[in-house]
Amino acid sequence: MSDLDALRDDRGNNDRSATKENVASTLHVADNSGTRPAPGVVNAFLVGEAMTGGYGKGANILNGCTIAAEKGQIAVIVGPNGAGKSTAMKAVFGMLDLRAGSVRLNGEDITRLTPQARVAKGMAFVPQTRNIFPSMTVEENLEMGAFLRRDDISRTIEQVYGLFPILRDKRRQAAGELSGGQRQQVAVGRALMTQPSVLMLDEPTAGVSPIVMDELFDRIIEVARQGITILMVEQNARQALEIADKGYVLVQGANAFTGTGKELLADPQVRKSFLGG
Ligand SMILES: Nc1ncnc2c1ncn2[C@@H]1O[C@H](COP(=O)(O)OP(=O)(O)OP(=O)(O)O)[C@@H](O)[C@H]1O
Ligand SMILES: [Mg+2]
Repeated sequence: MSDLDALRDDRGNNDRSATKENVASTLHVADNSGTRPAPGVVNAFLVGEAMTGGYGKGANILNGCTIAAEKGQIAVIVGPNGAGKSTAMKAVFGMLDLRAGSVRLNGEDITRLTPQARVAKGMAFVPQTRNIFPSMTVEENLEMGAFLRRDDISRTIEQVYGLFPILRDKRRQAAGELSGGQRQQVAVGRALMTQPSVLMLDEPTAGVSPIVMDELFDRIIEVARQGITILMVEQNARQALEIADKGYVLVQGANAFTGTGKELLADPQVRKSFLGG
């Protein structure tokens, strides 16, 4: 048992809401015919289904896009700049009003819930930018992450330090003074402070070296193994799809390709258009 175990508390690894059969029929490509453009009705732990919407009164950025993640699995969204990846994440987290479509968590329709209410339901989000408080210490950042909790958070802080030992050494240092990779660890650690069942990460490896990226991916796998569902956007598409149970290629706010990470990596069209051949 890893010491991250208690982060998920009593949440088990078995997704009882989804049988093997209905997951196979809705989420996975049953034959070898290649990757599909968009999944139909999806029954997964976290689902943003047929999401359509944009900012304010502006044009639609999301055009019926569907994203789903199973319990304890890693789902990865990739796609060109401006495709709407971050917008899709904001929609799933409740930071964007949908004009059509829905978001469901563990079978419950949460489309109309505020982000705060979604946090209370077990969702955590690390945005692409400004995801730490730079002038606060590392430990203060972690404490801020737990502001909704009324119970003792010291154990969770210890678990985050167990996952990211360097943060323990730097606990009294201003987070803004840390390296890029360490700041991303602070951001992920802060998100874990609410003991989420879903961890959403928008480009967690942006601007870090390949070695640091690999390390961060290993930690993300470790978090998923605790039964926490990961929904992640990644620029490093190839490496991210290697660790993805499920991958989504978004283009202009719509699903272009969907499959397991392996299937997408093997798909000639995906390789040519999105993975540099
Ligand atoms: N707050 C906003 N208000 C208005 N338009 C926005 C806002 N944020 C993003 N957009 C627009 O929505 C579209 C999709 O942006 P989004 O940030 O979701 O793309 P992305 O796939 O995450 O891109 P990147 O790879 O650069 O992070 C872009 O045309 C962008 O200009
Ligand atoms: Mg983005």
